[in-house]
Order: sequence, then C-alpha cells, then structure tokens
Amino acid sequence: MVMWVFGYGSLIWNAGFQYDQKLAGFIKGYRRVFYQVGSTDHRGTPAFPGRTVTLELAPDDLCWGVAYKVNGQEDENIALSYLEVREKQYDQKVYVDLFTDSSSPTPAVSGVMVYVASPDTKANTNYLGPAPIEDIAKQIIKAEGPSGRNRDYLFQLEEALNRLGCFDMHVRDLANAVRELLKDIKAESDIY
Ligand code: SIN
Repeated sequence: MVMWVFGYGSLIWNAGFQYDQKLAGFIKGYRRVFYQVGSTDHRGTPAFPGRTVTLELAPDDLCWGVAYKVNGQEDENIALSYLEVREKQYDQKVYVDLFTDSSSPTPAVSGVMVYVASPDTKANTNYLGPAPIEDIAKQIIKAEGPSGRNRDYLFQLEEALNRLGCFDMHVRDLANAVRELLKDIKAESDIY
C-alpha cells in the first residue's frame, strides 16, 4: 500500500511522520488562505485564537506545497493516526492530482490526500473566513499557543515557500503586514 499526503501549511516544513519520498509540487483549483481558526489548541488559545491556512476552491488558481509518500500498511497507519490528531480541526480529506511540471498537463501523482478546513460552519466550527489583511495580521500578532507563536507559523510558512521557490501573494502580504505591525509596536515601546 502507498499513501501520498499533500502539505500546504506546517506540513511543508514539519511532516512529523515517517515517509519514503518528498516531492515539491502543486495542486490545481485551490488557493491557500489564512481563513481557519486552527488554533485554539496549536497557535492560539480560546481567548486569542490564531489563524492557520486552509484551501479555498479557486478554479483558475493553484497551490504549491510538498507531497509525502508513505509506503507500507504499518507506516501508513502510524502516519494517519498522527495526522488525524494534528489536523483534527480540518474537517475534510480531499484527493487531488499533484503536478510537478507546470508545462505538462499530466499529474506526477494522482489520489494525493490533503486536509481541508471547509467553509461549512456546521461541520467546521473553527472556520473564520475572509477578513481584511490588516485584521488577520492583528489577530496573528496576539495569538500564541502550545505549538508556538502564530506569527512564527506565518513566517515559517513564508520561508518554506521561498525555499520551494514559489510565490504566494496572500502569504507575502500577510507576512509584510505582521512585520509592519511589529515595527509599530517596537517603535511605541522605544518611546515609553
Ligand atoms: C497542511 O500543512 O497541509 C495543513 C495545514 C497545517 O497543518 O498547517
């Protein structure tokens, strides 16, 4: 048995499970958005929930990330049990084609599993949805949870995407907005 898992958030830089192969690539028809309160338990608290990424349907878009190949029933069971806990705030598992070559219409791998936090607020009570970048940035600055600061999640994602050589405007704009706010906070604290 072989299982492939696509990561587009923290799974890019921290798989957390045993895998046999790692492939950088993209999936079509989705874009990465900081619309999920994945983080009353990871990157925030119930008082200051953080935001994590999910995928939004976007027919003309694509989302870069990393796919992991897990070989063998035992490793697959271990990886799945781990992921079901870690990604428990993601209410859907979707199976997609992974592409590695933008000039070819043929997927490198089909049937790759990806965790999605859907906008269905009945199934996904942690969904927050769109907001102005400034507001998302203010929320991210305040949030910190057992897995660390929400802003570090954002900066690590930005860095991981840079390492993959892919540009994501939403992540870049949000990271810049958070850096601006941090500068303002530092400037204020230097005055007092
Ligand atoms: C993912 O990385 O694929 C899901 C979102 C996250 O855990 O950050």
